[in-house]
Amino acid sequence: MTPFHDRAHAVAWRKDALELLDQRRLPGTVIYRRLTAVGEVAEAIRSMVVRGAPAIGIAAAYGVVLAARARHAENPHRWRERVAADLAMLAAARPTAVNLVWALRRMEGIIAEMEGDPVERLLAQAWAIHQEDIAANRRMGELGAALLGKRGAVLTHCNAGALATGGYGTALGVIRRGHEAGLIERVYADETRPWLQGARLTAWELVQDGIPVTLLADGAAAALMQRGGVRWVIVGADRIAANGDVANKIGTYYLAVAARYHGVRFMVVAPTSTVDMRIASGAEIPIEQRAAEELLTFGGQPVAATGAEVWNPSFDVTPAALVDALVTERGVALAPDGEKMARLMAA
Ligand code: MRU
Repeated sequence: MTPFHDRAHAVAWRKDALELLDQRRLPGTVIYRRLTAVGEVAEAIRSMVVRGAPAIGIAAAYGVVLAARARHAENPHRWRERVAADLAMLAAARPTAVNLVWALRRMEGIIAEMEGDPVERLLAQAWAIHQEDIAANRRMGELGAALLGKRGAVLTHCNAGALATGGYGTALGVIRRGHEAGLIERVYADETRPWLQGARLTAWELVQDGIPVTLLADGAAAALMQRGGVRWVIVGADRIAANGDVANKIGTYYLAVAARYHGVRFMVVAPTSTVDMRIASGAEIPIEQRAAEELLTFGGQPVAATGAEVWNPSFDVTPAALVDALVTERGVALAPDGEKMARLMAA
């Protein structure tokens, strides 16, 4: 059977429009949304129709194509100024994943140097960003699987799979490759409150690829490690600072602490588009705070005591000192630090 990552695409350019798989409806409903205006793309990113750091960047790149097409049609002389405002709107859609601004900067580079109708050249650049991401995931799959060692079970958090990227996945890319090589017997997937990316998306991807998956409540992970149930924690990232600190889905830091305590190794898998060398440490990474309703309600039903206040950060920062391996498409940094990050990025 065709693997999942070849059948389902979170992001695609089809018939002059951006097509997004609506991830809010998964796994129950598979519905693709057709977007023809840049404002719709910004809203789709904000509202989690598309999510996952690389997928957000790719969607934004195609969003720039839609923006340029409309602005150039409105006014072929002043389209650049208007597109600049569209770019700012896209950049503000979600603050933590740096892949978004990374992709927009690449698109801006093309805009700055081009003449004439912008659509073809911008589409070629967005397509390149998309294809490079898939190739990076494949490469990271090989590099990460080579670190796994003895056959065993692994734990992952959130969704860093085909759905979160151009295709194949970062953490799930390593898991796919590791399973193929006979090194992964089972994947434990944290359900990942409050959006349930683990339960709804990761488990869905793995079940369809025939990779054994066991779902657990986020709070159960340390107990699983205590029982010797996992060899590696494997996660993606939304932004990695110059010193190797890693921002990823809320709950990742707690996994890294528990993993170190229990002698479980901790692997971060992310393309270099997720590395932000302009910021020195994780303390500078902007952490998205999301709506209180995400905790006060469940499936639209109120679940919390009336009057309770909410703290709902969408991401946390894992210090580099807790990371055993950082896998990028340019290579692996074991126990990453500032020096190793600089070497990796210069490679
Ligand atoms: O809020 P989300 O679903 O966009 O958060 C996604 C994550 O935290 C992923 O782990 C990260 O973006 C890496 S995806 C390859």
